[in-house]
Amino acid sequence: MKTKTAVKNDVVKRAKRLFTPALVFHTDIVVKKASGIYVEGMDGKMYMDFSSGLATANIGHCPPEVVAAAKNQTEELIHSGCIFRYSSEVELAERLKRITPEGVEMFFFSNSGAEAVEGAIKLARYETGRQGIIAFTPSFHGRTMGALALTSSTARYRKNYHPLLPSVYHSPYPYCYRCPMGKNRASCSTDCFDSLRRILKYQIDPTEVACAIIEPVLGEGGYVVPPADYMEKLRELCTREGILLIADEVQSGMGRTGKWFACEHFGITPDIITLAKGIASGFPLSAVGSSERIMSRWSPGAHGTTFGGNPVSCAAACATIDKIEKEGILKNAATVGEYALRRLKALQEKSGSIGDVRGLGLMIGIEFVKNDCSPDRETLKKVTKRCLRNGLILIECGIDKNIARLMPPLITKKQEMERALDIFEEALG
Ligand SMILES: Cc1ncc(COP(=O)(O)O)c(C=O)c1O
Repeated sequence: MKTKTAVKNDVVKRAKRLFTPALVFHTDIVVKKASGIYVEGMDGKMYMDFSSGLATANIGHCPPEVVAAAKNQTEELIHSGCIFRYSSEVELAERLKRITPEGVEMFFFSNSGAEAVEGAIKLARYETGRQGIIAFTPSFHGRTMGALALTSSTARYRKNYHPLLPSVYHSPYPYCYRCPMGKNRASCSTDCFDSLRRILKYQIDPTEVACAIIEPVLGEGGYVVPPADYMEKLRELCTREGILLIADEVQSGMGRTGKWFACEHFGITPDIITLAKGIASGFPLSAVGSSERIMSRWSPGAHGTTFGGNPVSCAAACATIDKIEKEGILKNAATVGEYALRRLKALQEKSGSIGDVRGLGLMIGIEFVKNDCSPDRETLKKVTKRCLRNGLILIECGIDKNIARLMPPLITKKQEMERALDIFEEALG
């Protein structure tokens, strides 16, 4: 009889023969069962999943309420294909209308984050009759051809796919630790905003720009929190020039930052919002949201889907939102996140390897640097490997893969965060 480890290794070996290496897996764990913040490997090893299945299992893996809602819905209706209406999509839209920023009143449901981004830029072009799109470097918006044209978190994702969507202009994201203008926080007056103004002066007239799409907290590009005044200036400029502001909240939304949506931290309201990842606890679902005025002018047939807004995914999303509300999970994310930030900042003081710690709620980036502040990918690689060995799943981000992203489920208790940070500290030591 094969040992558990042999079975695990066999699955990995067979998978490597059957799947293209284009799709990269962060670990070689083969899961037997996942529950809450824990994942059990086929070899019997337990892990704390501080990746939340890529910021998606926001209320933990297989939450019983979501499992029950999905089971019930599965027995009633699995699929509609836009042939008939069903109540779970309406109930979800009503919940989203209640929790999304003011002015988001109608929705289009699809399956993935990239699909929501595609829908959002189509909507912006449709509504404005303009073609230009502003995006920010190094953002991530997905891998489909339209979304990829907006993504600039690494040239590797774009290599061999040109030409991409035309009329997309990239402005630097306000990444203060590595200021694109070479300033420091004391001398900064959000000068990077001038780059955006220059694009609108030299490259494309504002009257030709349909939308600006921004991650209110940068995800894959480095877990960066922008200065509030940058976000305010962006909102003002968009309003003044008739450019629709799209908040891509695929990663930062659904409670990740301790508020329903990250843009709430800056007091700005987007014209269009994109949601996915944590929305349905891992069931495939995404949404584009906007005002009734804009959405109702998107005429029949202008966009469509077969699987989008799947009834089971919608039921799972309703149960996810209900649980977050009932159990005060946003508050937990904010409180446990503050604790983690405090402890990591204290660790930064002691450790020569950590250059910056930043974040909101449970979206925290820890930037590893060498003595000269250059990115230190090697140390982080060692740290994440040791963490994994000691039962903590931690993944990296940023172009140089030198930023650890702490994105545990929002239900993580303080004691569990303590335990995870103990493992992290030991790995660093
Ligand atoms: C901000 C943001 N937008 C879009 C996407 C694309 O989502 P998906 O991988 O579901 O297509 C991601 C995925 O990480 C993301 O973080």
